[in-house]
Amino acid sequence: MPVTKIIKVAMAIVILGIESSCDDTSAAVIRDRVLLSNIIAGQKVHIQYGGVVPELASRAHQQNIVPVVNQAIRDAGISRSQIDAVAFTRGPGLLGSLLVGTSFSKGFSAALDIPMIEVNHLQAHILVHFIESAGSAQQSPEFPFLCLLVSGGHTQLVVVRDYDRMEIIGRTIDDASGEAFDKCAKLLGLPYPGGPHIDKLAGEGDPDRFTFNKPRLPGYDYSFSGLKTSFLYFLRDRLREDPEFIGKNMADLASSLQKTIVEILMHKLKRAAKDLKIKQIALAGGVSANSGLRHSLRLEAEKQGWQVYVPPIAYTTDNAAMIAITGYYRFLKGEFASEDVVPQARIYF
Ligand code: KG4
Ligand code: ZN
Repeated sequence: MPVTKIIKVAMAIVILGIESSCDDTSAAVIRDRVLLSNIIAGQKVHIQYGGVVPELASRAHQQNIVPVVNQAIRDAGISRSQIDAVAFTRGPGLLGSLLVGTSFSKGFSAALDIPMIEVNHLQAHILVHFIESAGSAQQSPEFPFLCLLVSGGHTQLVVVRDYDRMEIIGRTIDDASGEAFDKCAKLLGLPYPGGPHIDKLAGEGDPDRFTFNKPRLPGYDYSFSGLKTSFLYFLRDRLREDPEFIGKNMADLASSLQKTIVEILMHKLKRAAKDLKIKQIALAGGVSANSGLRHSLRLEAEKQGWQVYVPPIAYTTDNAAMIAITGYYRFLKGEFASEDVVPQARIYF
């Protein structure tokens, strides 16, 4: 095995990445830092329930994983024998979902006699900034940089010192920002996940029409449960006066809500960047697709002289390209998982 590794490091390294932490089954192939394929199968089954149902998610992963991996290998234009290692999400995430990706990776690694690499889903969201897409000249941040990681399950401010040295300096003490988008969208009667719907409607509305509660927390921590409650009570009171209130004001509600969430996110980001004197600023995670957040970041970048890094939309929500790039950096360090590795629902860096 060590001899094989030395030979492989001298040549291009091909990693198969597997992501199954929540409700997207994804497989990707990367050659060094260049992405060759990235297949994502979403799960529409959850829409009718207004949120992810863990039992249904793991069952759908089982159905999807083999075809998704086969397509990723086919689209990459490689053969299985060219794959040097399989990287998979070990956590955090839903245990039943993580188990599918972990078990598949174990079988794949044993069948091809190649190493397995465990990947932290949160680190992977951040490392999307180092993926190279064929034909594109995407710039990567320089270390150290500050990353606002915003997703359906997490909201964190992270100082990224190296590919594997990351420090969480602020996190949400209750709901994640994506959850705030989704839960408020649900109150408006929008489908799950509501974030993209709010984003779309927000563009047609007045962001200053309504105001909602913003938290006052010391340090760099976030809170979104107060906003959700304020939004709920506001709607309840207005609906008493006019049962058609939501329908008549949908775009303004979405726009004002988005503005509030973005302001909450930007407030702590600005404070941390100033205190730590970091001007390399990145976004990552599903909510980083939000157009209001991207716009606000760019405006602030001009004011503060920041250099900002926003991932391509395709790499914002869960995908295996981010698992493959993280696997690549771990491969370079020879950090492989043992055969008895088990998924972990709750892990941080
Ligand atoms: O990173 P992700 O795919 O999954 C987790 O790891 O949680 O993030 C999903 C979250 C959902 O809450 C979804 O509503 C939100 O990202 N999201 C958005 C947008 N696109 C996705 N939120 C606001 N605006 C968007 N354009
Ligand atoms: Zn995620």
